[in-house]
Amino acid sequence: MKTDLSLYDRTLTLFRYPKRNNETLQAWDAGDEYLIQHIEEMALSAGQKIVVLNDSFGALSCWLADKHHVTMLSDSFIAQQATRNNLADNHCNPVVLASSLESIPTDVDLVIMQIPRNNRYLTWQLAQLRKTLSSHIPVIAVNKAKEIHSSTLKLFEKYLGETKTSLAWKKHRLVFSFANSPQPIDVEPFTTWAVDEHNITLKNLANVYSGESLDQGARFMLQNLPADDTYKHAIDLGCGNGILSIKLAQLNPSLEITCIDESFMAVASAEQNLLDNVGQSERFHCMANNCLDGIKAAGYDLVVCNPPFHQQQAVTDHIAWQMFCDAQHVLSTGGQLLVIGNRHLGYDVKLKRLFGKSNVSVVAVNKKFVILQATK
Ligand SMILES: C[S@@+](CC[C@H](N)C(=O)[O-])C[C@H]1O[C@@H](n2cnc3c(N)ncnc32)[C@H](O)[C@@H]1O
Repeated sequence: MKTDLSLYDRTLTLFRYPKRNNETLQAWDAGDEYLIQHIEEMALSAGQKIVVLNDSFGALSCWLADKHHVTMLSDSFIAQQATRNNLADNHCNPVVLASSLESIPTDVDLVIMQIPRNNRYLTWQLAQLRKTLSSHIPVIAVNKAKEIHSSTLKLFEKYLGETKTSLAWKKHRLVFSFANSPQPIDVEPFTTWAVDEHNITLKNLANVYSGESLDQGARFMLQNLPADDTYKHAIDLGCGNGILSIKLAQLNPSLEITCIDESFMAVASAEQNLLDNVGQSERFHCMANNCLDGIKAAGYDLVVCNPPFHQQQAVTDHIAWQMFCDAQHVLSTGGQLLVIGNRHLGYDVKLKRLFGKSNVSVVAVNKKFVILQATK
């Protein structure tokens, strides 16, 4: 796996976060290189104020921090950690790290953007840019050419303004836009809908996983969550909008729950949804984190988890594996991990390896999903 990004006689050594032995995934892509080359050809004078949106692992921020004042704004705790580490490893100038919950800075000379996968989040960011930027400030975005559909460009035109694209280079394309559409369009921060059969209403910020309807795995999990008053402390690992925590809290009125997600918008949505549907904020603690980094060992009776199978654009099961290892670490003896997955993912094999064959059982199964329980 390549770790050196070499362009214009300069080399950055870049890693994803967390750093893994036998990593197969690179920390930047051809889109980052295309953007860097384009910006170098613009021959900007030093000291520009540049906002970098959705930098995957910090390649763009590290590159630009050399000559410019960079604000990196991202919804991902992991992207921020990767950027911090890559800046330090490459002795780069400091960068302001902002979360997706913060406003886009107003004093800006250039905005560059990795186009997010999620169109609702793209729409949100474009609408924020339109409200914030003067119409002469260039916005340059990048993505794989096959991901830039005419509908993507229509979003740019509608929510931001005049938009053109570049030729493709190494299967990527740049999008050039200005904040000059006739009127800024108000986009509601939350999308709100009800899970009628459980009498729960969920508010979802723009980049929350499954933010427009209930995830099918979560729906099945809701029918199989335990009610057990011996549980005192639980963790909802990869909490998304907090749906599993809300149901757990309703079923277990004295349970304290820690909700963890790497998306800042997920954490904020979960916090809001717990408050709206359960109240009792003293029972809940919501935090952005990479899996269970830094959480004390043997302190929890229950971990519930509907694991992700993507990191950025890449399909991977390494996060699920890390979640299972971390859960095993934080559970007290006799504590339980409850996991839902597509049947074909083979989580049972992983859990048996970690917890021992006789400590893993099937709680429920339907055509698509299986819910597994592993006891420490
Ligand atoms: C399949 S979704 C489940 C969301 C919610 N619990 C549900 O059941 O609808 C997985 C969640 O894990 C989060 N996630 C991904 N990688 C993570 C990591 N390294 N640490 C913590 N959360 C992560 C994602 O942001 C996403 O919200």
